[in-house]
Amino acid sequence: MNKNTEQISIEISQSKNQFRFLKSNTRPCHIAVVGATGMVGQELLSILHQRRFPVASIKAFASENSAGEKLDFGDDEIVVAELKPDSFAGVEVAFFAVDGDLAKTYCAIAAKSGTVCIDKSSAHRKDTDVPLVVPEVNPEDIALYKKRNIISSPNCTATPLVQVLAPLHKKAGLKRVVMSSYQAVSGAGQSGMEELNKQTRDLFNMRDIESTVFENRIAFNVLPCIPAGADWLADGSTDEEAKVIEESRRILGLPHLKMAVTCVRVPVFNGHSESVNIEFEKPISPQEAREILSQAPGVVVIDDPKTKLYPTPIEASGEDLTLVGRIRQDTSVAHGLTLWLTSDNLRTGAALNAVRIAEILCSEHLS
Ligand SMILES: NC(=O)c1ccc[n+]([C@@H]2O[C@H](COP(=O)([O-])OP(=O)(O)OC[C@H]3O[C@@H](n4cnc5c(N)ncnc54)[C@H](OP(=O)(O)O)[C@@H]3O)[C@@H](O)[C@H]2O)c1
Repeated sequence: MNKNTEQISIEISQSKNQFRFLKSNTRPCHIAVVGATGMVGQELLSILHQRRFPVASIKAFASENSAGEKLDFGDDEIVVAELKPDSFAGVEVAFFAVDGDLAKTYCAIAAKSGTVCIDKSSAHRKDTDVPLVVPEVNPEDIALYKKRNIISSPNCTATPLVQVLAPLHKKAGLKRVVMSSYQAVSGAGQSGMEELNKQTRDLFNMRDIESTVFENRIAFNVLPCIPAGADWLADGSTDEEAKVIEESRRILGLPHLKMAVTCVRVPVFNGHSESVNIEFEKPISPQEAREILSQAPGVVVIDDPKTKLYPTPIEASGEDLTLVGRIRQDTSVAHGLTLWLTSDNLRTGAALNAVRIAEILCSEHLS
C-alpha cells in the first residue's frame, strides 16, 4: 500500500458520513436479487450481508446458464434459479441487476404481483411515474413507488456527481456544470473486466488483440464512447452522456441546469472518476466547499494541496463513500470551482444505492 492509500484509508474509516437508513425495528423482508451472478448482483449480495439488511428469505435469479450455481451470502449459500415469470411469488422487494430489456419485461411482471422492484438498469429512468432516487439527495421521492411498484436507481456516473452537487447547490446555487468522466471497465459488466485483462496479457505476450466488448482496444488506451457499439445521438453525444445530464437534472430537481458532459472509458478495472467544473450563482470558496462536502452524507473530502493528497479509484474501490479532492477556484468564470471525484461504480454507483433505497423503503413504507 502506498503512502497516499494508507492515509486515505484512515480518513475514510474516520469519516462521520458513513450512514445507514435502516431503523432498528424494521421487520425482516422477503427479497430477491435478479442478475445475482453479475458484477452488480454479486456486489448487492455482499452489501446486503455487510449492512445486515433484515432478510426473512432471499432468492437469487440469473439466466438458465447459471441455474444451480451457488453464491455466498455471508456464511450461507444461495442456489441460483433460472429467472421465470413465476419467480416472484412471496417476494416483497426485488433488486434488478440485468440489462434494460430484461428489467422492463420482468419488473412489469413482478410489480403486477405486488413485488416492489428496485431497478439498476436504465429501463425506467425516464418514466415520470417511476421515482429516480439517490437517497442522500431525494429520499422523499421513494414514496412515489406506489404508482407502479418500481423505483429506479440512476446511472453510476450520475450518482456520485449529484451527491457532490446537491450540497453545493444549497449553498451557492448551481448555474452550469461541465464534467468529463474516467470510467472503469467494470461499468461494462463482467465481460468488460475480462476484455481488459485478456488484452493486457495478449499485449505483453505479443499476441494479436481482439476487441469484442469495447469497439476499440481498451488496454493502454482511452475511449471517448460509452456504451460501445451504440448509435450516437443527433447532436453527436453518446447515450451515456445524455443519461448523466437527464438523470442529474431530474434527481436535483433542476430541469434546466446547464450541463456539458463527456464520458470516457479508461483502462481501470474498477472505480469511476470525474473532473467537474461548476459555475455558481453566488460566491463560494474552495475552503467553504471542503467544509460543506465534509458534512455531506455519502461523501468524504480527501484534499490536502500541501501534501498533494488526492483520491484515486484504487482507494474508492470497495468503499461506500464518494471521495472528493483537488477542490480549487475556477477563475475562468465569476463564481467557479473545479474538483475531482472518484467512487466505486459497482457499490456507490449501483448496488449500494439500491440497498440504501431498500433500507428506506422497508423502514418507512413496508413496515
Ligand atoms: N457495472 C456497473 O458499474 C453498473 C453500474 C450501474 C448500473 N449497471 C446496470 O446494472 C445492470 C447489470 O450490470 P452488470 O454490470 O452487473 O452486468 P453483468 O456483470 O453482465 O451481469 C448481468 C447479469 O444478468 C444476468 N442475465 C443475463 N441474461 C439473463 C436472462 N436471460 N435471464 C436472467 N438473467 C440474465 C446474468 O446472468 P448469467 O450470469 O446467468 O448470464 C448476470 O447475472 C445493467 O443494466 C447495467 O447497465 C451496471
